[in-house]
Amino acid sequence: MTIGIPKEIKDKEYRVGATPEMVHALVQAGHHLMVETKAGEAIGFSDEMYITSGARIVSSREEVYSAEMVIKVKEPQESEFPLLKEGQILFCYFHLAPDPIQTKNLIDKKVIAIAYETVTDRQGRLPLLIPMSEIAGRIAVQAGANALHMINGGRGTLLGGVPGVLPAQVTVLGGGVVGTQAARMALGLGADVTILDNNLSRLRELDNLYGPRLKTVFASPSSIEQHVTTSDLVIGAVLIPGKLAPQLITHAMVKKMLKGSVIVDVAIDQGGCCETSRATTHSHPIYHVEGVVHYCVANMPGACARTSTIALTNATMPYALKIANKGYKEALQEDPGLMAGLNLFKGHVTNEPVATDLGYRYVTPESVI
Ligand SMILES: NC(=O)c1ccc[n+]([C@@H]2O[C@H](COP(=O)([O-])OP(=O)(O)OC[C@H]3O[C@@H](n4cnc5c(N)ncnc54)[C@H](O)[C@@H]3O)[C@@H](O)[C@H]2O)c1
Repeated sequence: MTIGIPKEIKDKEYRVGATPEMVHALVQAGHHLMVETKAGEAIGFSDEMYITSGARIVSSREEVYSAEMVIKVKEPQESEFPLLKEGQILFCYFHLAPDPIQTKNLIDKKVIAIAYETVTDRQGRLPLLIPMSEIAGRIAVQAGANALHMINGGRGTLLGGVPGVLPAQVTVLGGGVVGTQAARMALGLGADVTILDNNLSRLRELDNLYGPRLKTVFASPSSIEQHVTTSDLVIGAVLIPGKLAPQLITHAMVKKMLKGSVIVDVAIDQGGCCETSRATTHSHPIYHVEGVVHYCVANMPGACARTSTIALTNATMPYALKIANKGYKEALQEDPGLMAGLNLFKGHVTNEPVATDLGYRYVTPESVI
């Protein structure tokens, strides 16, 4: 199979869809790899390293997009839409539910869109979202700590406090992968951390994992309001897979929040879990509403692009090899978890939450491939 690895063009996005090691594995399996020049240069993966791994370096993005399969990190950007081909496999993050324009373009282009964020494993987990969620959860606390600085309009609270001064109150909404990693980092820095989730079993697991240092609270509209309005830092980390994030923090709650407190809405890639959230970029990561600092970067792991790329490709490599070696049809039919990743197939919407949220007819993947 011919496989293209383009350079990412989303704002300040330095991750790359394949490391030289992943390229080597695909080349060893008999595939032809085209890597766009300088695709990994910013994070220490030079063109020479890709050549040594067996790839051909190409300078034209059009040529990379002539491949049968394109492996990348973020969803195709507007300038990439015209390069897509009918029947081409795109293997990357898409987050289609909050993005009707992208969805329409990809439907019109009749591509085969296999979304990292909805691939599942045997336990029903999201193996290609987990590594980025782990990173985003950890970055959320670093970003939140920074946003609390006076220079950013924050209330000037140090997360861990100091001897004689209480630590900051940190509330984490959602105790999944992002929430757990955020809580771990915030606890590590000495903050006073409370995690809210509406899944009691998950709260029990977290209680067993962290013991009395971590406070757990069942999420209800009133418990959310109580904790959000008294915290220094609120981290939004809820997810209903494939769906728009539930808006748990209302504008009215934001109005009652402490001046200079911070919301890091990690769930912004699914539309955000706060009514006042809107997606921001690494160039302009924060804005203020009602005196509350909002950090809503939709591609947070891009800030630590080297760690993120290695963590992501550790997870994507076996799937990429499977699709390339067997072809999409056999690979999807053999692995129901990979099939769950099929969001669009040659003009059909094959992911139910995406179809429901955007008003398309849902077609089962099994019936069209
Ligand atoms: N901004 C970024 O760069 C970035 C990076 C990685 C992940 N994310 C996003 O972060 C979000 C969280 O991802 P994750 O991997 O931790 O998901 P996850 O499935 O592991 O965890 C989500 C948690 O939210 C809880 N939840 C769902 N609805 C709830 C509700 N109404 N009230 C309280 N809790 C609720 C679930 O019980 C679950 O524990 C997702 O939207 C994901 O796409 C964003």
